[in-house]
Amino acid sequence: MQDKVVVIVGATGGIGSVLTRQLAPTGARLVLSARDAVGLAALADELPGEVLTVPTDITDPHQVDALIKKAVAEFGQIDVLVNAAGAGILKPYNSLEPADLDKMLDVNLKGSFYTTQAAAEEMQKRKSGHICNVVGILGKHSMAMAAAYSASKFGVVGFSKCMAEELKRFGIKFTLFYFGGVDSPFWDNVSLKVDRKKMLSPQTAANAIFYALTAEPQAVPMEINIQPDSHLFF
Ligand SMILES: NC(=O)c1ccc[n+]([C@@H]2O[C@H](COP(=O)([O-])OP(=O)(O)OC[C@H]3O[C@@H](n4cnc5c(N)ncnc54)[C@H](OP(=O)(O)O)[C@@H]3O)[C@@H](O)[C@H]2O)c1
Repeated sequence: MQDKVVVIVGATGGIGSVLTRQLAPTGARLVLSARDAVGLAALADELPGEVLTVPTDITDPHQVDALIKKAVAEFGQIDVLVNAAGAGILKPYNSLEPADLDKMLDVNLKGSFYTTQAAAEEMQKRKSGHICNVVGILGKHSMAMAAAYSASKFGVVGFSKCMAEELKRFGIKFTLFYFGGVDSPFWDNVSLKVDRKKMLSPQTAANAIFYALTAEPQAVPMEINIQPDSHLFF
């Protein structure tokens, strides 16, 4: 990953922060993004190598444009985008308020759409790039209490596959990650009763993303699906 410019959105999160720490010693030039500027600065302080932090709310396309422009202004290009930002609202269908649906679609669907679109435009100019979208298994399988969250995640799969078709002739790879439950702060504010001890570790999720980024150049890991043994879908 030496000198590769990697934009990690959701860099302070459970999955994003482990991946960030794993990438930092490889010589990658990291652009770290999330809303919380203090959390981003604290993470960057721990890391070796060149690190740029750009506090961004991905629900605002203007902020997303500014993030991508700053990354290019600082490092000249974008080789990799990792979309590891998101949030979960899991509750019965008839308790979901319009604001809940708005939040799921704004953050998970539209936010990752904006970042993918903006980064892809930069990658297309150089005919090279890799976009990793951390979808989650609820972008592929159904689960009770997940109507709004799942709607947002199926949407991520939809736009990612369409953009992947448009962009493959420009040498741009897409990898979609379908992780089952990952024990991260994602679950801190979810009211659903879950057993976090049975979930995947954030390290397992980060390892999968790291694998996709470091596979031989002609290999495109298109989809990676990892479930905890307590919750298998075939
Ligand atoms: N945990 C799981 O079980 C699981 C399983 C499969 C897939 N996923 C997906 O994996 C991704 C990462 O999950 P995680 O478990 O690492 O969650 P997490 O620990 O809660 O981290 C979420 C990250 O997203 C950022 N974020 C949230 N809203 C944002 C916004 N509007 N703009 C920019 N950044 C925002 C957060 O930082 P700020 O709050 O500072 O903005 C944080 O860095 C999400 O898309 C999630 O849906 C999670």
